[in-house]
Amino acid sequence: MSKATVSAPANIAFIKYWGARDLDRALPLNSSISMTLDSCVTLCTVETLGHEGQDEVWLAEPHGGFGSLSPEFDRRVREHLDRVRLWAGRKEAVRVATRNTFPTAGGLASSASGFAALTLAAAGAFEKKATDAELSLLARRSGSGSASRSVYGGYVEWAAPKGETKGDDDGSYAKPLFEADHWELRDVIAVVEIGPKTVSSLDGHRRALTSPYYSKRQELLPERLDKVRRALRKRDLAALGPVLEEEAVDLHLIAMSSHPPVFYWSPGTIAVLRAVRELRQEGLAAWATMDAGANVHVICDPEAEDDVADRLEDLPAVGFVIRDGVGDGPDRETEHLF
Ligand code: DP6
Repeated sequence: MSKATVSAPANIAFIKYWGARDLDRALPLNSSISMTLDSCVTLCTVETLGHEGQDEVWLAEPHGGFGSLSPEFDRRVREHLDRVRLWAGRKEAVRVATRNTFPTAGGLASSASGFAALTLAAAGAFEKKATDAELSLLARRSGSGSASRSVYGGYVEWAAPKGETKGDDDGSYAKPLFEADHWELRDVIAVVEIGPKTVSSLDGHRRALTSPYYSKRQELLPERLDKVRRALRKRDLAALGPVLEEEAVDLHLIAMSSHPPVFYWSPGTIAVLRAVRELRQEGLAAWATMDAGANVHVICDPEAEDDVADRLEDLPAVGFVIRDGVGDGPDRETEHLF
């Protein structure tokens, strides 16, 4: 029997994955770029049980004890375990426990960190050696495409596959662009809404293609991707910031104009966006982005972080603020969850 525990971070997309050519395999229609976070991580322990049969899947409670995952997440975890088992050429059942270090109730629990941690911990428990690219591809096939980016630290690009793809060997995986120490950016997350989002990313991807603005976005993306790569290379926040906000607004524009429409924003989202604009008018370089939810990630330099956090904490619409920033990526842990 063998046991592995891995911590894998969440990531915030600078250029968003939104819309898939094959949703079951999470094959994106456009390339995406993200920053891997540091303190918002999922811890996952996987232990092989030495016999075939049912897997055991647990949610490790923050103060000890174990509970169940939501039925939907539980189903997806079990399906992914079958996938990893097949890939590793193993048959044994496993015991799994998973825990987020960030408030799951904050609606920030993108499944990216969860499926990246599960993939890496299961590969570890099955003692299957693999390249980062293989692990990224496997994490992507969990259906949570953004998990493919969470297997790396720093700044990461997941390129959309070109042309037709065949079978599972489709070569769509993420690659690191720059290490975390290339540029220390901070992410001040204003939590304005708690609880899970009303429409899953999966449904959002599905509906995206019904928006009349979807094809326009596809047209604009190559130049936008270039701008982000260039700004990252030059560590140029003044160049990166406007593209970040434009891209976040575009994602929500597509969502709001899909059939049926998806409205992720809440009044708090607007209040934070306004505060960020005011901070800029006062001379502070801070720029906002949102994934598929109401909460706002404010990207800034370390010197601006305290002022940004103070201002956002003062807003009545903000429940709490999480201070995070670029991180080094997943780690193999020596302490297990059970
Ligand atoms: C808006 O299908 O990867 O965050 O499974 O919820 O993590 P989850 O979503 P996924 O889509 C991510 C959508 C996004 C943009 C992004 O992260 O690229």
